[in-house]
Amino acid sequence: METIIRKISNTIEDAENFRIAGNIIKEGGLVAFPTETVYGLGGDALNPASSQKIYAAKGRPSDNPLIVHIASMEDLAAIVKEIPDTAKKLADAFWPGPLTMIFEKSDLVPRETTGGLETVAVRMPSDPAALAFIKEAGGYVAAPSANLSGKPSPTSAKYVEQDMLGRIEMILDGGDVEIGLESTIVDLTSEIPMILRPGYVTKEMLEACLGLVDLDKTMMNKDTGAAPKAPGMKYRHYAPKGDLCIVEGDNEKVVSYINEQTTRLETEGKKVGIIATDENKDKYSAKIIMSAGSRTREETIAHELYRILRKFDDLDVAYIYAESFDTSGMGQAIMNRLLKAAGHKVIHV
Ligand code: TXA
Ligand code: MG
Repeated sequence: METIIRKISNTIEDAENFRIAGNIIKEGGLVAFPTETVYGLGGDALNPASSQKIYAAKGRPSDNPLIVHIASMEDLAAIVKEIPDTAKKLADAFWPGPLTMIFEKSDLVPRETTGGLETVAVRMPSDPAALAFIKEAGGYVAAPSANLSGKPSPTSAKYVEQDMLGRIEMILDGGDVEIGLESTIVDLTSEIPMILRPGYVTKEMLEACLGLVDLDKTMMNKDTGAAPKAPGMKYRHYAPKGDLCIVEGDNEKVVSYINEQTTRLETEGKKVGIIATDENKDKYSAKIIMSAGSRTREETIAHELYRILRKFDDLDVAYIYAESFDTSGMGQAIMNRLLKAAGHKVIHV
């Protein structure tokens, strides 16, 4: 299949591109599009065949449900059984934006879209291009991240092309995304709202709005014995080609441990890459060092993480060492993704 690629340029031509993209969705095809979190791989959420195509294009297990993207609050009622007060409060505070909420689904939503579940995940993104596209597509766009299953989520159209060229009908290229990590997922069907995936909207922000909020315990620990409540979180994810290890402990010890490992591996002729911070980047001896940004600005670290993992893949880095981050605020989302990318390989020094 030939994939049409169109740049979104904030000009009059965009309207035509959104119309073309919308028609592809209405006809059962797939379009990748930018959102403020990561690029999405969109299909008609109400068409079972479209959802099946999404799973096939991604190489994703079909028990892993998709998020339904909407462009207006009026469109929510038709796809859910009821809208709890908690959802109204969260929508007021965080929609459009990087928050996904889980509801009981209505009969309009096919099981193919929800991976067989009776619940549906819904998000209203804030990216104007995403909103314009969803409207043209009929209002309900099912979209996982636009990467091949297991790879880091794409934060620019270049990486969507790498994974999806020839597999989908169209890519809307909106340049670099704003946030760089997937949305926060909160389940509103349990008595106490529960975070199933941490993100830019933090636990603290949700609690300020709702009071008590739980975090699915499987999120940050490997060995709780329980399956994660978001089915997708059980799969290996965001994984770079190289062997990724997180090093935690006293800062100077972390730096010297990483430098010792680098010397050993580079002497053996292996390619080593470091995921560093601005505070430490000049202390490393490795040939390939990429800083994700300053520890004082966690949003830059979130923004750079997947880009660096993809960059290390491009460079065929065989061993990757990453510094560790605090798990308060946005750090929770950063460490959640980093731990998954590392297959929970952490060394304490
Ligand atoms: O930021 C985002 O959320 C991006 C952009 C494109 O919007 N999308 C995204 O989709 O990250 P995806 O498919 O890569 O991740 C969706 C996650 C999976 O872990 C899935 O298991 C979970 O949401 N999920 C979806 N529906 C669910 C449901 N009904 N109950 C529990 N978890 C659900
Ligand atoms: Mg994903």
